[in-house]
Amino acid sequence: MDRTLVNIKIPRQQTSYDITIGRGLLVDSGSWAAAALGNRDSKLLIVSNRKVFGLYGETVRKSLKDVGFKIEVHLIGDGERFKSFRTLQDTLAALSEKGLTRTDAVVALGGGVVGDLAGFAASLHLRGIDLLQIPTTLLSMIDSSVGGKTGINTSFGKNLVGTFHQPKAVLIDVGVLRSLDDRELTAGFCEAIKQAALAGPKLFQLTADILKADRRFDDPTVLDAVARLVAKQVAFKAKIVRGDETEATDNDSPTSRKILNFGHTFGHALEKVTDYKYLRHGEAVGYGIKFAAELSKKLELLDQDEVDSLNDVVRRAGMLPTISNIDPALVLESLKHDKKRVGNSLRWVLLRGIGKPVIVPDTEIPRSAVSSTLKTIFR
Ligand code: GLY
Repeated sequence: MDRTLVNIKIPRQQTSYDITIGRGLLVDSGSWAAAALGNRDSKLLIVSNRKVFGLYGETVRKSLKDVGFKIEVHLIGDGERFKSFRTLQDTLAALSEKGLTRTDAVVALGGGVVGDLAGFAASLHLRGIDLLQIPTTLLSMIDSSVGGKTGINTSFGKNLVGTFHQPKAVLIDVGVLRSLDDRELTAGFCEAIKQAALAGPKLFQLTADILKADRRFDDPTVLDAVARLVAKQVAFKAKIVRGDETEATDNDSPTSRKILNFGHTFGHALEKVTDYKYLRHGEAVGYGIKFAAELSKKLELLDQDEVDSLNDVVRRAGMLPTISNIDPALVLESLKHDKKRVGNSLRWVLLRGIGKPVIVPDTEIPRSAVSSTLKTIFR
């Protein structure tokens, strides 16, 4: 079976790591981990949730154990609300109780919640131990498992506390997409559309084409096409991270890491006002893309055809839960606390065409443009 390797170089640490993408790779996770860590006798703590571990835990554990690793397991709750101080504390306690030393490593087996939380714990335990990422959702494959952002949510907002801690390697087995429910796939595809809209017409078209096809993930040909899409998405993300690993506050260029927040300003606000319980992250990003597209049009950066084309691709990703039950005034208030603020200004990532992101401080955006965009989106 074919594997694609995407390599990501991290200049700050003068290091790089591989992201291995293919189908049916979990059974080989032992040899992959041994190659990435450069040994096969350290202790590994698999951090996962009950559902994911029930599906893939034994395959991964057996493969890691068979090559010689000593394996411990720590399961956390399933859902965004478990990306919390409490879960972090429990995970740090597990690392100590199970005796992981500085030559040991954490294996994050799961979606974005598991990856961000396990990565954060790995970055803190003994001031940082190695991390391996095995993402099991489309969203975590193309975005959160790559690039080293870790973190948790607080009562003030999403991902407000965290670190940059790059993994030693990422293993993406697209075969696991078979087990995702429709909402989770829609959420992942919304994040893929976000990334494609930033990357340019080629990736945008490839993503749109995959969305036209049936989601028959039991068909190897379909899975291989998805693997190719994931590889291209990851390559784009790797390029951005390479150029601006820590999202420098003074970098507002169209290739800065900040652009990856396209669709996230409005998306995070929706998630926050619904207490992270109502929308999946990617679904909120779906609305965020629509919002950013509409705001870009109001500022005469995009024309109606481009907005229609973005909205059409988001619609193809699947049904988004209604937001008619959400008070737009609360969303507006929440935008004020967005962590993407730099000093007193909130940076919006907008588009002046597919593949042409632009960062605009809110001080340069008339309030009337934001409020009329809110009205359009909540209509
Ligand atoms: N998810 C956005 C980033 O990794 O920067």
